[in-house]
Amino acid sequence: MYTIRRAVAADAPVLARHRAEMFRDMGELPDDLYGTLVEAATAYFARAVPDGSYVAWVAQAPEGRDEIIGGAGLQLRVLLPRPHPTGTRLLRGPQGLIMNVFTERPWRRRGVAAALMREVLGWCQANGVESIVLHASGAGRPLYEKLGFTPTNEMRYGAGVTR
Ligand SMILES: CC(C)(COP(=O)(O)OP(=O)(O)OC[C@H]1O[C@@H](n2cnc3c(N)ncnc32)[C@H](O)[C@@H]1OP(=O)(O)O)[C@@H](O)C(=O)NCCC(=O)NCCS
Repeated sequence: MYTIRRAVAADAPVLARHRAEMFRDMGELPDDLYGTLVEAATAYFARAVPDGSYVAWVAQAPEGRDEIIGGAGLQLRVLLPRPHPTGTRLLRGPQGLIMNVFTERPWRRRGVAAALMREVLGWCQANGVESIVLHASGAGRPLYEKLGFTPTNEMRYGAGVTR
């Protein structure tokens, strides 16, 4: 039905559009900021995908339809070493912040986001990324719960950024 592949720098405009559409679907992006966000995010992805600080996957429609129907990414951040929840060792970085999980509307509820998330989690396991966090939208929460994510103790101050 669709294939999943790693995103490359040339996908930066698509990744940026997904980010803007995601915020729009969550009701957090005023129309007059849409273009500015796409432009700024394109510049970020064009830099961060090649330098490896942002790792992303896209879902592509069947051959012949060169259409990207969804995506998900992982921002790799420095993690200050901290005790592992088991208390037996230290947890070291990097930490993966999962971001920009988005499926184009006509493709929803067909397992696209779940397939993308499995790629992200598989890559984390293969690359020693043990600390994996995300901020769930209402629509995303059931998916993440099914995959084993649990709520944390995170708080925010004022209108602090969450995604
Ligand atoms: C959230 C989103 C990425 C899910 O994408 P998707 O490709 O439809 O998800 P999947 O088909 O892989 O769904 C996997 C599971 O998630 C849950 N799920 C997905 N969409 C759901 C919805 N609208 N309501 C309730 N549960 C939902 C279901 O458990 C589903 O399994 P099921 O279909 O077997 O019941 C998509 O709705 C989207 O892009 N929303 C707008 C942007 C957004 O909120 N992104 C998440 C940011 S944290």
